[in-house]
Amino acid sequence: MELLGSGRSADVYAIDEGRVLRRYRSGIDTRREIAVMAYVGARGYPVPEVYPGDGPVTDLVMARLSGPTMFRAMIEGTITAEEAGHTLARLLLRLHRIPARVSADPGDRVLHLDLHPENVMLTPRGPMVIDWCNAREGPPGLDCAMSALILAQVAVDGESALAPAARAGLVALLDGLGAAMDFTGALDRAGALRAADRGVNEREKGLIDQAVALVRELR
Ligand SMILES: Nc1ncnc2c1ncn2[C@@H]1O[C@H](COP(=O)(O)OP(=O)(O)O)[C@@H](O)[C@H]1O
Ligand SMILES: [Mg+2]
Repeated sequence: MELLGSGRSADVYAIDEGRVLRRYRSGIDTRREIAVMAYVGARGYPVPEVYPGDGPVTDLVMARLSGPTMFRAMIEGTITAEEAGHTLARLLLRLHRIPARVSADPGDRVLHLDLHPENVMLTPRGPMVIDWCNAREGPPGLDCAMSALILAQVAVDGESALAPAARAGLVALLDGLGAAMDFTGALDRAGALRAADRGVNEREKGLIDQAVALVRELR
């Protein structure tokens, strides 16, 4: 099968014109992720359609999307950092209008918890959100704090050529989130989750405190 893309945790192969197979290199069970994608997709959220099959539970078969990731589009200059930040804000706010799938707490929502430019594909039908492996339910402010923190980590990285774009994207994200962003405790929790995320390397983990401070300063 043709390898279409590789992220930090998974490889994505083309099955045919319309479908791809996403497979974790570490053999994680994808059933919960498939259930979350099917749930939000059925409520109108822009995610690729999932096709639960009888293959191994580590396989996720979904609709094949065309178009670059938001990250690639930023690098290629087809969208600005400001547009990217505003689009991320809209995608977060839209996700958080959907009621939770399993939680009984009326304040809880489905959270993506990794919504950043590499996990958004800019398709002819609009931006679509991929990579739901970190998704869980909880307070929406945590999801917003996580997206802000991920951009801030690049913004405070002196070795990254993308730092200025990440900062501009972060400013636009915070602007787009506006009052919806309840940061009470959320930033510290997001920092702790990120510090425990196996997909985040040691160098990045060393930037978390600075990143949290930057988000606090910019709000
Ligand atoms: N439905 C899809 N259609 C086409 N390409 C995809 C699809 N899902 C993912 N990809 C490609 O695979 C890459 C990695 O996917 P992702 O789900 O983000 O994995 P990871 O968890 O490893 O980051 C994406 O950046 C994208 O290029
Ligand atoms: Mg990804």
